[in-house]
Order: sequence, then structure tokens, then C-alpha cells
Amino acid sequence: MRQISSFALIILLGTTMALNPLESKSNIVIRNSHKNTQRIDEDNKKQPTDLTGAWRVDIAQGDGIVIPTYFILRQNGTVLDGTVSIKSTVDLQIRNPHQEGNEIVFGTDWNISYRLRPEGENLYVTIDYGNGLEKGSAFRVSEAEARPPKSIPLPALKNVKGSGAAQTPPMGWNSWNHFGNRVDDSIVRAAADALLKSGLASLGYVYINIDDCWEGERDARGNIVPNKKFPNMKALADYVHERGLKLGVYSSPGPRTCGGYEGSYGHEDRDAKTYASWGIDYIKYDWCSAQRIYSNSQLQAVYQKMGRALAKSGRPIVYSLCEYGLADVWKWGQQVGGNLWRTGYDIQDNWQSMSRIGFSQDAYAPYAGPGHWNDPDMLEVGNGGMTNTEYRTHFSLWCMLAAPLLAGNDLNNMSAETLEILGNKEVIAIDQDPLGKQAVPVVKNGDIQIFARDLEDGSKAVGLFNLGTTTAKVNLNFSDIKVNGEQKIRDLWLHKDLGEFKSNFEAEVSSHGVVLLKVVPDVR
Ligand code: GLA
Repeated sequence: MRQISSFALIILLGTTMALNPLESKSNIVIRNSHKNTQRIDEDNKKQPTDLTGAWRVDIAQGDGIVIPTYFILRQNGTVLDGTVSIKSTVDLQIRNPHQEGNEIVFGTDWNISYRLRPEGENLYVTIDYGNGLEKGSAFRVSEAEARPPKSIPLPALKNVKGSGAAQTPPMGWNSWNHFGNRVDDSIVRAAADALLKSGLASLGYVYINIDDCWEGERDARGNIVPNKKFPNMKALADYVHERGLKLGVYSSPGPRTCGGYEGSYGHEDRDAKTYASWGIDYIKYDWCSAQRIYSNSQLQAVYQKMGRALAKSGRPIVYSLCEYGLADVWKWGQQVGGNLWRTGYDIQDNWQSMSRIGFSQDAYAPYAGPGHWNDPDMLEVGNGGMTNTEYRTHFSLWCMLAAPLLAGNDLNNMSAETLEILGNKEVIAIDQDPLGKQAVPVVKNGDIQIFARDLEDGSKAVGLFNLGTTTAKVNLNFSDIKVNGEQKIRDLWLHKDLGEFKSNFEAEVSSHGVVLLKVVPDVR
């Protein structure tokens, strides 16, 4: 099952719906439950049917880790209201509570629903994630436990000197998009082997990044240890390094990661040291539960804390800020030592999601450059939800945007087309151009968008994109890309020189497709 992803749809507008009393199935009453709410006294045992109070359900993840979800409920007669703290990571208002048989059912603004069935003093809980169920028995806890911990004071803002890593956008693989919470040591080793075997490593894909769900608990001294799916991180890093590759891990500035695992809250220095001692080369640091504690205006200081810890760790570690584009991160990401920062919410493996993200990056272009990159999220190429034409567009667009190229597919089971897309040397060269200039659209005309970027050798990369549903003729006027005189044009997917052109170039671009060009001044 894929874990909760992103904080995309958090709209905390409270609505309350009536709840049929458990003992009768009579009229539904709708009224404002915020009036006359009672506080529950823990020692004062309530009837099991009075749900008021805080509840905790522990769900074992199959990797030795148990993750609590909390409910804080207010029942006033027939009216139920409250919040759920999903995997202790985000607090969401409950929506549309109602009774079905002997169960109380409600949703949230995320596509996750909950069924509670009173069972003695407890509540039997079924959580429906849309793509899988989790079940457990909820018991009463204090409200203090269910609420986020107190905020730890943050450092004053002061620039952190970055490691000098990632002079070109990082390239490699990340476990999340395909493997989600199934990632384990053998999957990571196999991914490292596949990068070598497929030839992708020699094209620059060197980072093997373990995303969420590797974390265990802390030992007696407070050091983070991996869960049982990762028996020995140092040995894993050695394995990856012996193959000339680099290893990345994932954490959160909050107490919990997005999947509900242990985060780095209050342990930043210790964790950075631990990562360095394992030989970690890259960290993705995901806001997640930090939003229960800090406001968006504190994001910079929160990220600075880990930036400083990494700088002191004694090892150059690529610092990837994953904060969904909150708080204009592009304006300060570099100042906290960041090498890349997410500009928005999570990508999904479909055309709508990919194109919505990829074609809305214009405003961030000025902030990209050697050592500091905008991150529109990881690649979905080869995951099956788009056509190869769409994946070619995805890959071309990401390369035009000087985006990190983190493959998110199963490298051991990829088609020849997937390998051909991820392995297109000429397109990768655009992404990795040392000038580091992110492309911007120079033409936006209905479904047609033309992107251009300057390259170090004085030529330009130009992408003719067709977002429409039918093939279109696209005309590139050289004035659109501010070049004069004859230009030599090469097609980077056909790997073919198309000839010399005087003032314009015209091509047919298929639906959802791209024609990607290198335009070189003809200086004969
Ligand atoms: C968030 C991030 C994703 C992924 C998941 C893991 O949703 O945006 O990229 O890391 O968390 O839980």
C-alpha cells in the first residue's frame, strides 16, 4: 500500500454533521457541536457510546514499527465533531460523521475514511486509505498525548554555507514512486545493481535514495536506528559506494515523517552525525509533521537547523528540502544550505498531475543555478500511468527545467522504451548543462508551449510541447528565442541533424508530445 502522500488538500474548514445516537437509528440532527462541548476526565469512565475524548490506535507496519493515529472527538448528544491526527503527522477535521449499522463512519479532506465500532471500553477502528485497509483497537489516552509536542525554539536566521555539492541537478533513483513503504535493503541493493547493469550509472544516475519508511526507533542514547527491513545502514552504504554510487536517506524536521515514522525533531545534530557515520551522501528532508508544530513563517529557521547540522557533520551531504513549495522556499533555500527544494505537492503517475506541475514552474526559473535547483518532484517515467509519448514529454520537460532526475520506477523491470527515455544522453546533457539555466516558456499559444534555455556552448535547447489532444503543427520563429541568422537544428529524440534554417522551423508535434531541439548558430 502506498503511504499518505503530501499535504495537498488540507482545507481546515470545520463542518459538523449529526451522528445518530448509537442506541437508536432515529433522526439526524444537525447543529453546531462547538457549543457546549464537554471535556473528558480520563478517570471518569464514560459510556462506551460517548466518544468524547482522545483515542489512540496503534497500527503495526510489518517492519517492527507501530505507528499511532489519534482521534480527538467531541460528542454532544447526537452531534459528533473532532479531528484525526493521521499517523501523528497531520491533523484533519473529521467530515460527514454518520452511523452505519453499529459503526460510526467519517472521512477527512484526504481520501481516507474511518469506521469506529465500540467494543467494550475500546473502539475497533478500520482505516480505509482507498488502496488498502488498516485495522486496530483504539483506546483512550490523554488529550495532551494526542496533541503535537511543544515547539522547540528556533535559531536566528543566519546563512549556512552549503557543501558545494550538486553543481548540476542531482541524478539517480528514489524508492518512493514505485516501492512506497515496501522499500527494503534488498530493493535498494538491487536498484544499485540495476543502475550499473542498465548503463544508467555511467550516464550520471548515481544517487540511490531511500525515501520514507526505513526508520526505526531511537536507541537508549537517542540515536536513530533503521527498522528491521534495513539490518545495517553502514553495510548498505558500503555496498552502494563500492559500486561508485551514492546513498541517500529521508527524514522530517517534525517528530514524524509523512508515513508516521520517526523524524529528526530535536535530534538534528545527532541525526546528521549518524548519517555521516553511515556514509550517507544525500538527505531528503520532508516537512510532514513539522506543520503540526511550526507555522509556514518558521520554515526557513526549521530548515536552517538541519542545514547547519549537516554542515557540521563532517561529510558533504546533498540537502534536499521537501516542503511542497511553501513559504517561497526558492527565495531562501540556498541560504539554509539547500541544494534543491520542492516547488509543489507530490507528483502522481498520470498526465494531468505531471503536466500541471511541469508547465507551472516559470516563476521559479530565476532561482535555479549550479548548486541550488528547483525540484518539481521525482520522475514517474516507466511506472505505467502514462504513455511513452507522455513520459518523453515528462523527461524532456524536467531536463529543460534543470530539474533533479531521480528515476522513480523499478529499474529491474523496465521496458526498452523506458530505458531509452531515461538513458537519452543528448536530453540528459540539456539537464546537466553546466550553465544551469532553467528553461522558461517563450511561446504560450493555447495547447502549444515553446520552452527555451541557454546552454553553456552558446547554443539553445528548445522544446516544442503540444498539450492538446490532437497532433499539431508548431512553428518556431527564431525571434521567439532571440537568435538571428542561420541555425543548425538537431532533434534530440531522433538523434538527427535536421539541417540549417534561416528564420523559423516547423514541426508536427503529436498529442501530449514534444519535439526537443538543439539550436546552434551556424558560424561558417
Ligand atoms: C511526502 C513527499 C513524498 C514522499 C512521501 C513519503 O508526501 O512529498 O515525496 O517522500 O512524503 O511519505
